[in-house]
Amino acid sequence: MPLPPECDAVLYSAEQIAEATDALGAQLTRAYTGEQLRLLSVLKGGLMFMADLARAVQLDVTMDFLAVQPYGPGARGAVRVTKDLDDDIADSRVVLVEDIVDTGLTLNYLLNLIKGHGPRSVDVCTLIDKPARRIAQIDVAFRGFEAPDRFLVGYGLDLGGKYRNLPYVATVRDEVMGL
Ligand code: IMP
Ligand code: MG
Repeated sequence: MPLPPECDAVLYSAEQIAEATDALGAQLTRAYTGEQLRLLSVLKGGLMFMADLARAVQLDVTMDFLAVQPYGPGARGAVRVTKDLDDDIADSRVVLVEDIVDTGLTLNYLLNLIKGHGPRSVDVCTLIDKPARRIAQIDVAFRGFEAPDRFLVGYGLDLGGKYRNLPYVATVRDEVMGL
């Protein structure tokens, strides 16, 4: 896939993403050896990473998905859940699989929601961490990349619904973002 016109550079190649995902899979395998692990992800951004990460974990895992709709700017991470979990996660070891953590507000909200279902533990595994704009203090146990403060697309991340299918992650030009 050629670089979209809104982008200025590839930040993480498909090969780098695969390497990072394999490393995270190995870390999860070590951390949860002997356990039944429940991987939870958030549609749609987390889809690609979830699919690849699950195959890099050498344990019995289950996969489940949440879908959320932000209430809009100023909602400080409050989201409307449009698809709840299918599985009962009470007493389970849960890993929330995220594409990207930016302000952390969405994640903070989702973590509280998940904790309300009574899991034995919840850890966060994100492919990309953008700590520059963090508002909610969140403990990210597993991370692939620490990204600069740029808007990113590809490998699940979208710009107005487009470019989720890029096999790499690219930076969007500042002028496209109105910066
Ligand atoms: P938060 O700011 O950590 O609450 O991030 C909320 C959501 O914004 C993420 O789950 C992504 O869906 C989206 N998001 C944050 N940064 C980016 C980005 O650089 N590109 C595309 N989506 C992003
Ligand atoms: Mg997301």
